[in-house]
Amino acid sequence: MNTASISDAAVPGDDVALELCALHRVYQLKRGLFRAPGEIKAVNNVSLRIQKGETLGLVGESGCGKSTLAKMLLGLLAPTSGNVLVNGKEIDPGHRKALARSIQPIFQDPYSSLNPRRTVADIVGVPLRLHQVGTAAEQRKRVREMLDLVGMPERTHSQYPNQLSGGQRQRVAIARALVLRPDILICDEPTSALDVSVQAQILNLLLDLKAEFGLTYLFISHDLGVVEHLVDRVAVMHQGAIVELGTREQIFARPEHAYTRMLLASALTPEPGLGIPDIDRDLPVALA
Ligand SMILES: Nc1ncnc2c1ncn2[C@@H]1O[C@H](COP(=O)(O)OP(=O)(O)O)[C@@H](O)[C@H]1O
Ligand SMILES: [Mg+2]
Repeated sequence: MNTASISDAAVPGDDVALELCALHRVYQLKRGLFRAPGEIKAVNNVSLRIQKGETLGLVGESGCGKSTLAKMLLGLLAPTSGNVLVNGKEIDPGHRKALARSIQPIFQDPYSSLNPRRTVADIVGVPLRLHQVGTAAEQRKRVREMLDLVGMPERTHSQYPNQLSGGQRQRVAIARALVLRPDILICDEPTSALDVSVQAQILNLLLDLKAEFGLTYLFISHDLGVVEHLVDRVAVMHQGAIVELGTREQIFARPEHAYTRMLLASALTPEPGLGIPDIDRDLPVALA
């Protein structure tokens, strides 16, 4: 099997929400005290199509290139080569504002992604103000509705992020991501920083919202177990490339690639954030 060029050309083209064509991203490494200059092929020839309404899981261990891929889909990072089509149109990282109405991220760390000086209602209202959607009264109404949908009670709307639990913060991040009514959500390890008991609540919320809004998800996780109940198909990523792509049933019941089998067998998956620098912290946290 030629692992570097797996693609899913069999998916019909009409209903494609997100298309990645031969995406590559190389990071140049500067010389360090103990390091020769060099480069990392973080994403190496990835082609994928996600159909409208589909949930595609992207799974692989920490450092395999998942977040780099996510950032290119969001227009936050330019590909070294290749391109991304959102609803059939090639994205232009120079025009993130237009892109923000179609595709939004939810990142791992709800602690660093919310502005500590704004109230919950303010945070969720920012995209509406930036995009000048409706009057001020309509914006307040839409913010209340969104916060209600994600399960944030009225009394929390005037609170600040440091008064909220991790799960509540992630609910606010989800409300902010959905307030412009995008079609596609890129969820990059959205529950990895949360307590196990809270993870299931957030996953269930994401499932409910998908049904409510007819969303398309790319759901990224280092843990195959997390995606099992959410996804229609799974792409397995290893060292920057997709090594296996299949339906949930195929990947979990009849994995073909040795790496997929290893991921399935490993009970202890590495925790992101443990000893691995969290590069996501420096990134813009929402598209606006
Ligand atoms: N800004 C950067 N500069 C240099 N190397 C980077 C940068 N961001 C990520 N990398 C490297 O690229 C590889 C893929 O990282 P990343 O996309 O964060 O993987 P994942 O999200 O799967 O953990 C890793 O080897 C990581 O160290
Ligand atoms: Mg990552």
